Amino acid sequence: MKLLELVGLIAASSLFIPTTYSEFIDMVIWLMFQIMTLCLVAFLGGSLSSKLKAKERELERKRDLEKLYGALQKANVNKARLLVNVSHNLRTPLTSILGFSELLLTTDEDDLQRKEFAKIIHSESQHLTLVVSDILYLSQLEAGEVEWHMTETDILKMATESVNTKQGLALQKKLTLTVDSGATSSLVYGDFDRLKDVISRLIDNAIKFTIEGDIKVGITNDADNTRLSVYDTGIGIPPDIKDRVFEPLEEIYKTEHKDVPQRTGLGLAICKSVIQHHGGKIWFESEPGTGSTFYFTLPQVRTR
Ligand SMILES: Nc1ncnc2c1ncn2[C@@H]1O[C@H](COP(=O)(O)OP(=O)(O)O)[C@@H](O)[C@H]1O
Ligand SMILES: [Mg+2]
Repeated sequence: MKLLELVGLIAASSLFIPTTYSEFIDMVIWLMFQIMTLCLVAFLGGSLSSKLKAKERELERKRDLEKLYGALQKANVNKARLLVNVSHNLRTPLTSILGFSELLLTTDEDDLQRKEFAKIIHSESQHLTLVVSDILYLSQLEAGEVEWHMTETDILKMATESVNTKQGLALQKKLTLTVDSGATSSLVYGDFDRLKDVISRLIDNAIKFTIEGDIKVGITNDADNTRLSVYDTGIGIPPDIKDRVFEPLEEIYKTEHKDVPQRTGLGLAICKSVIQHHGGKIWFESEPGTGSTFYFTLPQVRTR
């Protein structure tokens, strides 16, 4: 535009042919003045637009910082809540251990009663150990301090081993526990022991939250992923709490199901972290009163 103006100006001035020397000088001065004005406008315009761009960049940086600040604040609130829950989860078994050991020391109960107290102390100590080791495992996972042993490994083998170990627990509750594979290939690249632990935790939950019926572990695959599912006919998960079950220490059924043993509230948070480390996804479908199915998928190892 400015260049066009300049060309137009020179063209227009060329129509005016100076006849005297002073007219010629006037025309040269006038032309120089026009050119200088144009240069000034171009310079001011340029510096204005670079100033605008800098301002825009500054605003963008401010927005990014605000986002980061919000995320940090949320993480801080989550950590504080986790700390409260952890303290609570540690204090409950500790209070019990303290109370029953005091009873053992101070009362003159018969041997049978004393054995009962000792049994409670033993099972609460076991639970305490479980809570502490899960807290440590989850914090190591979150801090990226876990040593992974990644190999080409078979998910059906993991599932079969987990099911075999949990058979006794299922039998105690008269639940049937089976594994079934319809997969053409169940090879994934991952840490055998840690993935097997994920399956065991999902089976543990299925047994824990099922009163009667079946638990089925299934394996399927498509072209890219292998999918494992753990189906149960248990109490189910209400839709309003579905976003919270993968949060650490969300013991949702605490009040309604006090009789459910061995809870740390960290199991699903651990499962999520391990599956995500393998580039997979974990989720569930559930209907309260009918049952739940937990799924995870892992990228498949391609066989040539
Ligand atoms: N199969 C299931 N059926 C019903 N509820 C479940 C199931 N699995 C998990 N949940 C819910 O998700 C919560 C979190 O599970 P988890 O992290 O494994 O902790 P925990 O087993 O120690 O309670 C459980 O307390 C329970 O409320
Ligand atoms: Mg659990």
